[in-house]
Amino acid sequence: MSAHIIGTGAFVPEQVVTNIDLQRLVDTNDEWIVSRTGIRERRIAEPGQSCSMLGVEAAKRALEDAKVAATDVTHVLVATFSPDAYIPSTAYILREKLGIPRGMAMDVSAACTGFLFALETARAFVALHPEAVVLVVGSEVVSSRLNWEDRGTCVLFGDGAGAVVVTGKPSHGSAEVMDVLLDGDGSLSDLLVVRGGGSATPMKLGQAVAEDFFVQMQGREIFKHAVRSMAAICQRILEKNGLTSSDIDLVVPHQANIRIIESLAGRLDLPMDKVFVNIEKYGNTSAASIPLALAEAREKALIPPGSKVMLTAFGGGLNWAAALLQY
Ligand code: ACO
Repeated sequence: MSAHIIGTGAFVPEQVVTNIDLQRLVDTNDEWIVSRTGIRERRIAEPGQSCSMLGVEAAKRALEDAKVAATDVTHVLVATFSPDAYIPSTAYILREKLGIPRGMAMDVSAACTGFLFALETARAFVALHPEAVVLVVGSEVVSSRLNWEDRGTCVLFGDGAGAVVVTGKPSHGSAEVMDVLLDGDGSLSDLLVVRGGGSATPMKLGQAVAEDFFVQMQGREIFKHAVRSMAAICQRILEKNGLTSSDIDLVVPHQANIRIIESLAGRLDLPMDKVFVNIEKYGNTSAASIPLALAEAREKALIPPGSKVMLTAFGGGLNWAAALLQY
């Protein structure tokens, strides 16, 4: 049973925070951020604007694009590391807000690679249940887990959401999900962590949060693994499907750092005009990054029918993934 992306949608909070704005918070500057990361500004959620709120708006747009009523959705997956709460899952909150009356919902936790893990899960649901209509959302309020005193992390991330609708039947302008590969290495888990409040580092009533409550990472090490692992998994998925990078019309990579994206393009021997980049506007939106970029690339008419699109991501875990789409 083949799986098809029949609609895409995205949503970002209104509040724009520029690099100049961040200069007032931490010892940084626009030149450093732009030259090291490619990021010029990011969207930051207003207080109270949660992961499900951003996800609902992206999902509405994806459902509208797919011409599917919320009442027809059978499965909801939300990829996030910044859920509304531990319990209930953000997927159930989002399902309730959209008025989806039945079916399962669950969150998928794989940090920045979460959307591709959820996409493969959607493909499995469609294979098992040919009538399934799966809503796959990547939504993050990363700002809720950022230490705004740590210049090494707070300048890199942003908030946003993207969504796709996956079914067993193609429709006009849809994309077949040809293949997805997921991989990872738990021995590298210490490179990116959000530990505080987990059961291994529990909190007591009245205790103030410490630095470990927020994203902590070893940027330089992650950079190296990101380039290597994404290039390797892209090569693997191409070879497995009898393709080379010259068969790919557009790569939509996780938007973490323009230098990571350029190095990846170099290793795949792909010119940058075949690589979609919007990091300058949004920063790293973690699990939202790929569906947000995919929706934007479609809106800009960069994916005409017949296009082969490759998605790739890496994230805390560490884990990495690639997917091939045939439009
Ligand atoms: N402004 C100014 N200076 C800074 C800033 C800042 N915001 N942040 C760090 N610096 C300084 C450092 O303190 C250091 O100073 P020093 O030389 O005096 O010690 C200097 O800049 C260089 O720091 P590096 O860390 O070596 O800089 P690098 O070129 O490696 O860039 C960066 C850092 C941007 C973090 C890069 O390593 C990177 O992008 N790594 C990947 C990170 C990533 O993608 N993380 C997300 C993973 S996905 C997920 O699952 C969430």
